[in-house]
Amino acid sequence: MKTVVCIVGARPNLVKIAPIVAALRDQGRFGVLIVHTGQHYDSAMSGSFFTDLAIPAPDVNLEVGSASHAVQTAEVMRRFEPVLDGIDDPVVLVVGDVNSTLACALVAAKKGIPVAHVEAGLRSRDRAMPEEINRILTDQISDLLFTTERDALANLTAEGIAAERVHFVGNVMIDSLRASLPQAVDAVGTLAAHGVRLAADKGYGVLTLHRPSNVDEPLVLAGLLRAARRVAERCPLIFPVHPRTRSRMEQAGLDRGLAEAGIHLIAPQGYLAMLGLMRDAALVLTDSGGIQEETTALGVPCLTLRENTERPITISDGTNVLVGTAEEAVVAAALDVLATGGKRGRIPEYWDGAAAKRIAATLAQVLG
Ligand code: UD1
Repeated sequence: MKTVVCIVGARPNLVKIAPIVAALRDQGRFGVLIVHTGQHYDSAMSGSFFTDLAIPAPDVNLEVGSASHAVQTAEVMRRFEPVLDGIDDPVVLVVGDVNSTLACALVAAKKGIPVAHVEAGLRSRDRAMPEEINRILTDQISDLLFTTERDALANLTAEGIAAERVHFVGNVMIDSLRASLPQAVDAVGTLAAHGVRLAADKGYGVLTLHRPSNVDEPLVLAGLLRAARRVAERCPLIFPVHPRTRSRMEQAGLDRGLAEAGIHLIAPQGYLAMLGLMRDAALVLTDSGGIQEETTALGVPCLTLRENTERPITISDGTNVLVGTAEEAVVAAALDVLATGGKRGRIPEYWDGAAAKRIAATLAQVLG
């Protein structure tokens, strides 16, 4: 029996792998092994997601931790190779676009081991994003490419990838969302646990920031926080702070006086708490990829604080608006959502909770 080696490294990978592992186990056609690279390593960024999403404990942890892109990618490769050598008849399955995705795909491809990439074909066309490099290269060396939206196929064929390798299966992140929504933690409880008390009638927004292009440059980060302060005059904002962002804010002295301005900083949230916070929000401001999709699935208005997105279906079909990072544009878009209720949107094709089952079925058909 072939073994599907499922790779996880960073927080969003865990949300994507959960339904895939469950579907492969239910199907019973493959052995399943979970390798955690350790790119994200603390409880807030990794551990709690295993509990919330009922993912079995990893069989192997490579414990690479944080480092420069080159060192992190190289360390994953160096440590993954002997693990792969010890597995009989493996298939390597990678998800998303983080450094661990590319590193493990590359190790497998060089050994002639089949690689499956889930969430293939998304393109921001912004090569300054580390994730864009990871997407392009991972897709080039993958044998099976599973896409979340139909447009992804055109992106892949334009890069010379044969259409026979591409399978439109839908969005596994939305599989997790649909399965977990009944267990989502009520926002009121999460806020109370963090000592945040809001006026009952006012509602709240959620803010997340972690893209290097937004948080590593103090002027950009300061501008976004100025915009957030102005939005918070109308609607308080809950801001679960990514560790990268926390340290950049502290370095630039931008972490002070925010609670008084109605911006409530809380620790990075577990999956079920974050789901509850988003579900009950009046709007979400974010630079995350996954949150653009989750808000579309929840029907909650999303303003994306970037100049581009690799997930255009969240704009054409969903509730997402690309607003960029200029202070005035962000404030105007947010006030518009608060006044009008924002975009309605509809659920994209195959974002139906069954994407992982389609992946398992395709793997069995092609490799089984
Ligand atoms: C990574 C991914 C990004 C993904 C994001 C989700 C790449 C290139 N980037 O970015 O695509 O959207 O994860 O979170 O793979 N840290 C902790 N605890 C942890 C992990 C990290 O404190 O468990 C801190 C470290 O100080 C580190 C910083 O967070 O320097 C950033 O982590 P890193 O893995 O470098 O990239 P992310 O910005 O999280």
